[in-house]
Amino acid sequence: CRHDTAAGIARVYRGSFVHSTRDAALEILNDFVLGVDKSGKITFIEEGKNVDRLAQEQGFNTADVENLGPGEFFMPGMVDTHIHASQYTYMGTALDLPLLQWLNTYTFPVESRYRDLKFARDVYTKVVKRTLRNGTTTACYFATIHTDASLLLGQIADDLGQRALVGKVCMDINPMVPQYKELLDESKDETLRFIRELLQKKYPRVKPVVTPRFAVSCSSSLLDALGEIARTLYFQSHISENKEEVELVKQLFPDCLSYTDVYLKHGLLTDKTVMAHGCHLTDEELKIFHKNGASISHCPSSNISLMSGILNVRNVQKHKVKLGLGTDVAGGYSASILDAVRRAIDTSKVLTIEHPQLRPLTFEEVFWLATLGGSEALSLDDRIGNFEVGKDFDALRVNVSVPGGPLDVFPEDVIVEKFLNLGKTPWLSFISLFLQYG
Ligand code: GUN
Ligand code: FE
Repeated sequence: CRHDTAAGIARVYRGSFVHSTRDAALEILNDFVLGVDKSGKITFIEEGKNVDRLAQEQGFNTADVENLGPGEFFMPGMVDTHIHASQYTYMGTALDLPLLQWLNTYTFPVESRYRDLKFARDVYTKVVKRTLRNGTTTACYFATIHTDASLLLGQIADDLGQRALVGKVCMDINPMVPQYKELLDESKDETLRFIRELLQKKYPRVKPVVTPRFAVSCSSSLLDALGEIARTLYFQSHISENKEEVELVKQLFPDCLSYTDVYLKHGLLTDKTVMAHGCHLTDEELKIFHKNGASISHCPSSNISLMSGILNVRNVQKHKVKLGLGTDVAGGYSASILDAVRRAIDTSKVLTIEHPQLRPLTFEEVFWLATLGGSEALSLDDRIGNFEVGKDFDALRVNVSVPGGPLDVFPEDVIVEKFLNLGKTPWLSFISLFLQYG
C-alpha cells in the first residue's frame, strides 16, 4: 500500500548531509536520503540503505533520486542575523573611525540617498544577489528611514528567493546630520504603513521587523510608540556596541538602570527581539536578555573594524542567551557569513590569549551559530536551521571537489572544517554553492 504525503514528494537527494541538532553542534550524516515535498518541506531523512522501503512508502521512483557526487554535501542555508543592506555601497572602505564618528561621517550621508528609488533598487538587488551567492539564505536587514525603498528591499528578496526580515529604520534624533532623520509622528506613521504594505504582499518568506536604529537616535516617545507596535512583531536594534555609545545612552536616559533597561522599559525586549553587538553588556543585562527571551547578533568583523569591543561568547552562553552571527555590513567589511564564522573563531582566540581560562569557540560551534543558532535568534527555528522533518529544505549544496582546489584531497570528516575556513565566498573560485530552495 502506498503512503502518500499530503503534498507529494517533489525531490529526493542521496549523499552527505551536515547540520546541527539540539544535542550536537555538528552532525555528519553520510549516505543519507532526504525527501522534499512540493511545498518545499522535508518529509523524511533516513539512512540511504532504506531507500527502497522509502520509495514504496512515499511513492517515488528510485531512478529519480539525485545522488550527490564525491566532495559534495548539503548543509543548512546560513543565517545573517544583522546586515545593513543600505551600507553595501561602501563595504570594504571607511573603517578608520569608531562607531559614533563613523555613523556621522560615512553612514548617514550614504543612507540619506535611498530617497532615490532607482538607486535603492540597484543597490538592494546587488546585496541580495551577493548574500545569496555567499550562502545567506536568510537575512535580517536594516534598510533606511525611507518606507518605499524598504518595501522594495522586501520585494527584491522575495523575487530572488531569499528569506528575509526587513526593517525600515526609525530615528527622530540626529544632531550631526539633521537631513537624515524623521519627525516623531512621521516615524510612527511610516512604520505602520511599512508593516501594513509589506504584510499585504503576503510574501511567503519576507516579514517586517520594527527597527529603531539605536537608543542614541530615538526619543523616548518614539521608543514607546514602537514598543506598542512591536508587541507581536519582530524587533531589532543595536545595543552596547561601543563604550562611548554606552556612556551616551546613560546620559540620554538617566532614569534607566542600563542600556538594556532602556529597551526593556519601552517594551522593546521580547522573545522576538534581536539586538546587534552587545559587546559591553553586564551580567545583569544578560540575565534580563535571558528572562525576556531576547537574542544577540554577534558581529565580530564589525566589532574589530570599528574597534568597538570583543563579545565574550562564553559568557553569553553561560547566561543562556540566544545567539546568531551577523556580518553588520558595512561596519563589517564582508557580506559573507563564512567571514563572520572565521572572525568569531579568531576573536574568541584573542580572548583566550588574554584569559586562558576561556575556551575558544570550535568550528562545530560556529557552524551551529551560522545555521541553527541564527534561526533560533530570529525565532525561525520552527521553519529553518537544520534538516528536521517538517522544516523547509533551506539548504546549500557545497562542492569542495573542484579540480585543482585545495580541498579535494582530504577525507570527509575534515571537509566541513576546511570549507568553513577556506571556502572562497567572495568570488567562489573553487567552491560552488547551489541554493536548493523549496
Ligand atoms: N549603531 C547605530 N547604527 C548603526 C549602524 O548603522 N551600524 C553599526 N555597526 N552600529 C550602529
Ligand atoms: Fe549594525
